Amino acid sequence: MHNTTSAPVSSCAQDFLQAKLEHRKLSMVTCYDHTFARLLSRTAIDGILVGDSAAMVMHGHPSTLSASTDLMRLHTEAVSRGAAGKFVVADMPFLSFRKGVAAALDTAQLLMNAGAHAVKLEGVDGHEDVIERMAGSGIPVMGHLGLQPQSVHTYGGFRVQGRSDHHAEEILRQSKRLEELGAFALVLECIPTLLAEKITSSLRIPTIGIGAGAQCDGQILVLQDLLGMNPDFQPKFVRAFWDGARSILDAVGSFDEAVKSGEFPAAKETYK
Ligand code: KIV
Repeated sequence: MHNTTSAPVSSCAQDFLQAKLEHRKLSMVTCYDHTFARLLSRTAIDGILVGDSAAMVMHGHPSTLSASTDLMRLHTEAVSRGAAGKFVVADMPFLSFRKGVAAALDTAQLLMNAGAHAVKLEGVDGHEDVIERMAGSGIPVMGHLGLQPQSVHTYGGFRVQGRSDHHAEEILRQSKRLEELGAFALVLECIPTLLAEKITSSLRIPTIGIGAGAQCDGQILVLQDLLGMNPDFQPKFVRAFWDGARSILDAVGSFDEAVKSGEFPAAKETYK
């Protein structure tokens, strides 16, 4: 028997499609930990991505290639325990969907058992069978085209993609293919605005942009970037909606001073 009233989620894959039909913009942010997930569960955002950028943002690696399946499972569990009511998408880590359908399904199963409601994977050529099988098995699949961070060593850096006519056509073709294979949404990362607009108007499924301009059906940012936590990382497409670094430094500075001056803890902060 299924309890149809338990664990309500504010959005699901179908809602993403519906939002596009109704011209409602979709908002997503990344999240890797329980504390932030609890806060995000109190916002109106449409989805949380447990991105493989966790390897960089949380663990200090130079790329997302270091995000193992175990690491993604741990972060997905931590987020999903706090993200009550939110639609959680987890990234399929580097190569996990390039070793055949069975291996990819195992990873997807692990991430969904960890609390994800959908998975995201980069690219389409060479793993069409994986995408089709997952989508046909009740696993909502989000695509990711344009700058695919797991291919950073092919590009020789994190660079804008799709600038030549030929490459733009390729990304458009791949977008259409992802839709045909059953993806429910598509992240477009760091591509020219006009290309993102063309892709968005060619697809039934919503596009979620990051560095892809305002014409996408939704936007996603890395949470730490939108909170202004890293003043040393300010690419063109990031807007810091808070001066997190300054606020955190000020708070820790105030604590340090209060401890050293003997002002903290005060009487009301101690036990009798
Ligand atoms: O891992 C990640 O943070 C992502 C976003 C850039 C979309 O894939």
